[in-house]
Amino acid sequence: MHEHTLALSAHLRSAVVACFGDAYAQIDTELRPATRPEFGHLQSNLPLRLAGPLGLAPREIGARLLEALDIGGLGSVELAGAGFLNVTWSPEHLADAVRELLADRHLSVPAPETPQRVVVDYSSPNVAKQMHVGHLRSTVIGDALARVLTYAGHEVVRQNHLGDWGTQFGMLVEELLGEDIRDPDAVGALDMSELLALYQRAKARFDDDPGFADAARRRVVELQSGDPTTLALWQALVDASMTEFDATYSRLGVLLTDDDFDGESRYNDRLPGIVADLQTLGALTESDGAQVAYADGFTGRDGAPLPLIVRKADGGFGYAATDLATIRHRVDDLAVDRAVYVVDHRQSQHFEMVFAVARAVGWLPGSVEVQHIGFGTVLGPDGRPFKTRSGETVTLTTLLDDAEAAVAERYDNPEVVRAVANAAVKYADLSNHLARDYVFDLGRMSATTGETGPYLQYAHARVCNVLAKGGQTTGQIIGKTYAVGTLHHPAEQRLALALTGFAPVVAKVADTLEPHHLTAYLYGLATALTAFYETCPVLRSEGEVRQTRLALCEATRQVMSAGLGLLGIEAPERM
Ligand code: ARG
Repeated sequence: MHEHTLALSAHLRSAVVACFGDAYAQIDTELRPATRPEFGHLQSNLPLRLAGPLGLAPREIGARLLEALDIGGLGSVELAGAGFLNVTWSPEHLADAVRELLADRHLSVPAPETPQRVVVDYSSPNVAKQMHVGHLRSTVIGDALARVLTYAGHEVVRQNHLGDWGTQFGMLVEELLGEDIRDPDAVGALDMSELLALYQRAKARFDDDPGFADAARRRVVELQSGDPTTLALWQALVDASMTEFDATYSRLGVLLTDDDFDGESRYNDRLPGIVADLQTLGALTESDGAQVAYADGFTGRDGAPLPLIVRKADGGFGYAATDLATIRHRVDDLAVDRAVYVVDHRQSQHFEMVFAVARAVGWLPGSVEVQHIGFGTVLGPDGRPFKTRSGETVTLTTLLDDAEAAVAERYDNPEVVRAVANAAVKYADLSNHLARDYVFDLGRMSATTGETGPYLQYAHARVCNVLAKGGQTTGQIIGKTYAVGTLHHPAEQRLALALTGFAPVVAKVADTLEPHHLTAYLYGLATALTAFYETCPVLRSEGEVRQTRLALCEATRQVMSAGLGLLGIEAPERM
């Protein structure tokens, strides 16, 4: 909540206590943004809700509360309808809030009471495979969360948990050697389509030729025991994939770099220790030759306890073993307060079980919060998981190519094409509730009207244009202090009110890790800006009114550009 809203809420709570006693000392005052302009800026239905418990008429309660309530110069409160409290901020208070915002490079977003060190585990594609739409979501959501948490004052450690280890590498290296490709530099230079072709050849041979399959399995052992030739080829495959992923990250404009890779292979040496420690702690049970851990409360369809496989019957370590090692690294070595895993919701049970086992054996202290941020599936136009016509998963590259093609003819500048295509894709992804599946509808998401990324980019570019013109004619606005005078017009006040919502929404996203609050906020801000333009001419006004309106435009420009930035969306000044 906005700090002034908090203050108001505290005043209202004191009034409730003064009238009806200490039992209400913790009451939620239910102050919400007003649903209609004529209801003021905020409203609360507290009198209605208290009527039952108190056995009094709502209007009677409202009248008593008003009597006891003093909100000073913040604004005024009225009793309305069946028993609503309508709050209107004073124009002076709103003008002050805009002044504060313009004077603060951090746009009135306060430092958190307790800054945290937060791991964000995201993107995490797999070597020698393409990134697909699921990785797109992880990448886009994780990027936005990392940005918001940082802006909110936390320290973010990005971890790209690359799938760079496992039995498939035995097969891939064996295939390379079989084709007499032994030069790591040549392998390191393979591009994505060559890597995929290699994967397909290796897989085909693995499935058809038992001799090859055996050799591939032996190759896994060589890899694990550190045979130099095997290791060099494996590393070259990883490098080639990383180069491809980095190219995608820079195309998407996300923060991930080479330094953020924290692949599964890094934990390989620790896996035997994980098993040994779990054994010592008495946390492992043998089940069909495998070593498994049970966590309370996890049962399969048949009601039987569900095992977390730590070591497979063939002696190999499971995905879960690596994630347990990862948790220990994050807690013990990185000393994080919070770890956030942005991964497809289909892995939610995996994470819940890993977290539960780690808690049970004491590797995850109560002071460390861990969260799996799952997300829904991207659907094709037919409402089924997005597939190509031949039935394959759509790759991220195809998807971005299509998005660029959809907007290409609108702009001359290729950088703008890319910025708008990314905005369309990212905004559509982030504006849904994370858990929801959504249809990848390029026509809708790239439209310049409606709730879309491109629409917000236009709103931003338009306000930049107004400011540029305003600056040119007065010759003193741009780069100077913006003087906010009295906010006479209701549309000016509403825009100012919308601006005060930025700090609370940043805090809310940092807390809930739900980016859609920020997308909705920015859309609301753009709507308030449009309403303001319609009734409050900026460039055609004069004197203090013009100064004030330009100042409102500047504050809006700053909040829009920062807000879009937090979503990983570029805000070009001209489009
Ligand atoms: N590489 C995995 C996949 O593509 C995601 C890894 C997520 N992170 C983790 N710590 N398990 O499904």
